[in-house]
Amino acid sequence: MRLSDETLLDIMARFQAEMQKGLGKDTNPTASVKMLPTFVRAIPDGSENGEFLSLDLGGSKFRVLKVQVSEEGKRNVQMESQFYPTPNEIIRGNGTELFEYVADCLADFMRTKELMQKKLPLGLTFSFPCKQTKLEEGVLLSWTKKFKARGVQGTDVVSSLTNAMRKHKQDLDVDILALVNDTVGTMMTCAYDDPYCEVGVIIGTGTNACYMEDMSNIELVEGDEGRMCINTEWGAFGDDGALEDIRTEFDRELDLGSLNPGKQLFEKMISGLYLGELVRLILLKMAKAGLLFGGEKSSALHIKGKIETRHVAAMEKYKEGLANTREILTDLGLEASEADCVAVQHVCTVVSFRSANLCAAALAAILTRLRENKKLVRLRTTVGMDGTLYKIHPQYPKRLHKVVRKLVPNCDVRFLLSESGSTKGAAMVTAVASRVQAQRKQIDKVLALFRLTREQLVGVRDKMRVELEYGLKRDTHPLATVKMLPTYVCGMPDGTEKGKFLALDLGGTNFRVLLVKIRSGRRSVRMYNKIFAIPLEIMQGTGEEVNAGQGVPRSEVPACHPIQCRPGMTAALSLQLFDHIVQCIADFLDYMGLKGAQLPLGFTFSFPCRQASIDKGTLIEWTKGFKATDCEGEDVVDMLREAIKRRNEFDLDIVAVVNDTVGTMMTCGYEDRNCEVGLIAGTGSNMCYMEEMRNIELVEGDEGKMCINTEWGGFGDNGCLDDIRTQYDKEVDEGSLNPGKQRYEKMTSGMYLGEIVRQILIDLTKQGLLFRGQISERLRTRGIFETKFLSQIESDRLALLQVRRILQQLGLDSTCEDSIVVKEVCGAVSRRAAELYGAGLAAIVEKRREDQGFEHLKITVGVDGTLYKLHPHFSRILQETVKELAPRCDVTFMLSEDGSGKGAALITAVAKRLQQARREK
Ligand code: BG6
Ligand code: BG6
Ligand code: GLC
Ligand code: GLC
Repeated sequence: MRLSDETLLDIMARFQAEMQKGLGKDTNPTASVKMLPTFVRAIPDGSENGEFLSLDLGGSKFRVLKVQVSEEGKRNVQMESQFYPTPNEIIRGNGTELFEYVADCLADFMRTKELMQKKLPLGLTFSFPCKQTKLEEGVLLSWTKKFKARGVQGTDVVSSLTNAMRKHKQDLDVDILALVNDTVGTMMTCAYDDPYCEVGVIIGTGTNACYMEDMSNIELVEGDEGRMCINTEWGAFGDDGALEDIRTEFDRELDLGSLNPGKQLFEKMISGLYLGELVRLILLKMAKAGLLFGGEKSSALHIKGKIETRHVAAMEKYKEGLANTREILTDLGLEASEADCVAVQHVCTVVSFRSANLCAAALAAILTRLRENKKLVRLRTTVGMDGTLYKIHPQYPKRLHKVVRKLVPNCDVRFLLSESGSTKGAAMVTAVASRVQAQRKQIDKVLALFRLTREQLVGVRDKMRVELEYGLKRDTHPLATVKMLPTYVCGMPDGTEKGKFLALDLGGTNFRVLLVKIRSGRRSVRMYNKIFAIPLEIMQGTGEEVNAGQGVPRSEVPACHPIQCRPGMTAALSLQLFDHIVQCIADFLDYMGLKGAQLPLGFTFSFPCRQASIDKGTLIEWTKGFKATDCEGEDVVDMLREAIKRRNEFDLDIVAVVNDTVGTMMTCGYEDRNCEVGLIAGTGSNMCYMEEMRNIELVEGDEGKMCINTEWGGFGDNGCLDDIRTQYDKEVDEGSLNPGKQRYEKMTSGMYLGEIVRQILIDLTKQGLLFRGQISERLRTRGIFETKFLSQIESDRLALLQVRRILQQLGLDSTCEDSIVVKEVCGAVSRRAAELYGAGLAAIVEKRREDQGFEHLKITVGVDGTLYKLHPHFSRILQETVKELAPRCDVTFMLSEDGSGKGAALITAVAKRLQQARREK
């Protein structure tokens, strides 16, 4: 019975394999360690409260309890309990009678505690292996230990007990909300005091353990999010013969005489119900061999169960142990010499030591699994402990702890004794169950606001269509919220464009200066670019003079200062902004060795501009994160020209000003002539498309087509989307630089999605549904959820722990459960955004189809923007929605790999050619 360290490590490895087998869908049916999902997903967080009933059946004592979990955050639990006997005729009789007996005891308890009129939720601790498909149901797989009531195996014990309670209808009004194993109850009891507790171990009448497993590893339960407690039922380890090499003749003999031969073989080497019996069998053999008691036999030694675990514990006491041994042996009618007593004591030690060793090996396997699941080098964790053997045996805990620490040196384990049994924990589970139920309802209510029905999406599509028409018509144009701005871009590149161009790209996430070389014929374009930051002083417009120093390359700017995309960065003076842009151009030319070069320039300016020609653009109003003063109502080309003049260092020929949607459409149009739509899903949200001249009432002429910059971000500014706007959208709008404006953009684009998420999280936290109800400073900080974080959080490949880590990086101290909710919130917000984009785009392509009188339309959409490019689901949902809402259009999405700078250069090339032609004429 002595097990070497190697053997223990070997057993540990075998148990690890058993766990894996039990968790696998295909391997579970033949696994002896059943690894039962418990549907307990969260450990207590201190917010549990209420009054609960609890039953504790299956350990050495049967108890009924009332548990009062305090409110107001004070972790305070009060319990009143009553023990009831469990006579053999009840626990080994008829199942119905067993449950009726339990119901009788409950009714008696309620009567004596005067609880009859109360409707209380009940948590049932039932310490036998049960297969659960939900928390409030459990089919008994087999009886273990001392129980063997007929007709219960294979049935749901919750409904059996509920049925039995019907007899007491007048007195009993209880709702069984949870069925928990005693290990689970123990873990939860301990976790209430120590949030690190994620394992529960019982070493009592029987032995068993549970622990928190990653959902992604539990093949028998759907879903990959979060964790769930697994009741290992490790007592059955070895039932398939896996431990035959360490089982002894005594183990075999004991098993044959048990209520469940061949079953629970690991338990039978460990737990309190069997330990004394093992000692008896060994002593009997030694006595028979004449090694003890002077060859004299006692008839008491022949009687099964004569030596109990409490005897073993007493005999192993430090000081009184020897005296206790003599007394116990004398009571058995044995005349023991001093040497006999020492020998008997030794047998006890060997048997109980083996028990502790075996438990340690299995526990070490669980701890290793936890550590590996968390991908940690060192695990800090707490194990909740209970059971009479562990509690009354003088040396057991110390030995167990020592061996565990030896077997898993990379785990810092705290062993916490459950002082109040499993019931406190069962009440926690019940409380959590009722809290989770209630919270889920609240969270669902919030998320439902973001779920758009097909009808609603069709409504959005149709309203967009109406707005598009308004914007195009001369009469309605002035009041239109979707501005439908003519761009004076009338054709697609035809491949004859050529030359060297400068391009500026301002208004997206990055500000860039580019050199674009277009070679005709081969449709090949070479680009060189540099990203610059616009310093905070300029973005925030402190009014100070810009020093004449260097433009700041993006790489030298702290990453936390994105150029302009945060709300709240206001009022840069126009002078500063344009002088700074010119400074960056100068730096770039310098960097490219082109100082003094005179190049045609195309200016991608991603804001709404009213154009009278390709090289004139009056800024209507700033959107997104810009708010430089003295620019609105001014021509941006003039402002840039003047800044160049002020610098007086080089001359540039500003040939075209283009919106980023237009630049994107052109970039893609260079590859695919079918590309007649440009879409941006980035910091902002916008779309442009080729419209028939005859439909554009603002521009003379009916021939051909012209690109219209829709500025659809303003859709809804007249209130037409109010039916789907939520309180969160309104809050985001109110906190933005342009309240009341760009409502559609604020529901769809990268700059705002994170803000919507943040508003929802604040609200859920206020409702106590997240972050333990604590609104942190971080959560109050605008702009913390940039598009890239949103995209990371929603990635399918990410385990929940990684989501949690991202949130922690953002300064949000979230639990796993919080992380699930945050991910759901992100998902709901980004899905709605993609669907709204889809509805908007469907309106356009349908319009194009109808205008051309086609049955079917084949069209390509050039797309750009960080939201489209980084988000794991956005593009798919967008495409699905378009398909659904514009079924007669075959829409191809083409990602613009080169940004809009290339398109702007192409437009410049065409414009330049026309300019020259005009001059020559
Ligand atoms: C008790 C728990 O403290 O310990 C029971 O409340 C559990 O749920 C029992 O079954 C296990 O120990 P034993 O020794 O009573 O089987
Ligand atoms: C870039 C284009 O690729 O995408 C810009 O070059 C455009 O012109 C931008 O504004 C849009 O995306 P985001 O996410 O940077 O706003
Ligand atoms: C037996 C039961 C198990 C219980 C353990 C401790 O092993 O099968 O469910 O947890 O005893 O009471
Ligand atoms: C904003 C701007 C628009 C731009 C879009 C995408 O909506 O108003 O001009 O195209 O953002 O960057």
